[in-house]
Amino acid sequence: MLFRSLTRRAVPLLTMYRMTRQFNSTPPRAQIGRSPFVRLRELLGDTPPGKPAISLAVGEPQHPIPDFVGPVIAAHVAEFGRYPMNKGLDAFAAAVGQWLTRRFALERPVDPATEVLVLNGTREGLFLAALAAKNWVSPRSGRPAVLIPNPFYAAYAAGAIAADCEPVYLPATAKTGFLPDLDALPGDLLARTAAVFLASPSNPQGAVADLAYLTKLTALARRFGFVVLSDECYCEIYTKHQPHGMLQAAGPDFEKVVVFHSLSKRSNLPGLRVGFAAGDRKFLASFLELRNVAAPQVPTPLQHVAIAAYGDEQHVEENRRLYREKFDLADQIIGDRYGYRRPAGGFFLWLDVSAQGGGEKAAQLLWQKAGLRVVPGRYLAREQADGSNPGADYIRVAMVQNNAITGEAMHRLVEVLG
Ligand SMILES: Cc1ncc(COP(=O)(O)O)c(C=O)c1O
Repeated sequence: MLFRSLTRRAVPLLTMYRMTRQFNSTPPRAQIGRSPFVRLRELLGDTPPGKPAISLAVGEPQHPIPDFVGPVIAAHVAEFGRYPMNKGLDAFAAAVGQWLTRRFALERPVDPATEVLVLNGTREGLFLAALAAKNWVSPRSGRPAVLIPNPFYAAYAAGAIAADCEPVYLPATAKTGFLPDLDALPGDLLARTAAVFLASPSNPQGAVADLAYLTKLTALARRFGFVVLSDECYCEIYTKHQPHGMLQAAGPDFEKVVVFHSLSKRSNLPGLRVGFAAGDRKFLASFLELRNVAAPQVPTPLQHVAIAAYGDEQHVEENRRLYREKFDLADQIIGDRYGYRRPAGGFFLWLDVSAQGGGEKAAQLLWQKAGLRVVPGRYLAREQADGSNPGADYIRVAMVQNNAITGEAMHRLVEVLG
């Protein structure tokens, strides 16, 4: 039964992948890139952990799930017996529309009928949105490009490559404030751009784009005719100021702007697999056409959980409080080592370990000597044209464990890296 439901969801994506492969002259596996976590497993090999293992690698929230999840699923359990509509429940779109309008103090309410689509978590949505964008934008002057901050979430490049676009990696380094430098983008590149991915707060650096930055990007999108795919899945995990969202920077019709949100981080529900896309209604209509034949639907009982989740802020505030406590620990224990500064958003530490031999070396050491599993920054980024890799000097540490484990891990980290 479980197998059948899993394959039902996986088959459309697999078919699309094979179709893409058939028309792609170079081997897609090499291009699409490999999971950073598989690469980490290979790096550490059979080496035993130096102390009882603590994983700070996968950004999988470990805080308790909200109390209402079980009862809501139980109340709707019979609905597992029906195929869900790809577009999602009207009540889900309404809950999302209200939440977006409230959270971002939008000038006009989001229209649930045309401006919201449910997603099976944002990963598949981000991947498929690149394919939809390539087909939706007006003909580009030159080979269509998809611009991707570097480092980045792997699904962006996978989508760009599956769409047969050129992925163009924009360095997001300490020098550029850990966000791509929009002023450095040449006009001929923008003229052939189909889509720009942005994550704010960013993963892994936790940088937050201000309203001026977002406004500049949406203005470029309208001028050059590309779509902004704005990944805002960390927008509720912040230390002081609520991050702005791309819909606040878009025009009244959200033209050329689509935002992606998820309950994975906001509500500690990475296993629920519910998120949404919202924004430009013309893009979303075209995206839905693709999704109707290719995307995994979202089980109806889980959409009901999401309705409850978007109607409740208390668990989100509690969640933020728990992350704050852990960043307080990092402030105390790590201090100003490894270029650490408390990030504006998200739940990662992005530590410069160039003095310790770089990210891979540090990740190996931390595992061998301290039993800590962290991700080498190189695995989250791609080489730039000049051969540099903006992640090479870094490790990413996910602050997802409880306070006691996180504190212990921070102490071990400092002990090994000095
Ligand atoms: C930047 C970013 N975007 C998207 C996702 C996908 O999350 P989900 O598919 O659970 O919504 C993640 C998950 O770690 C992420 O870090």
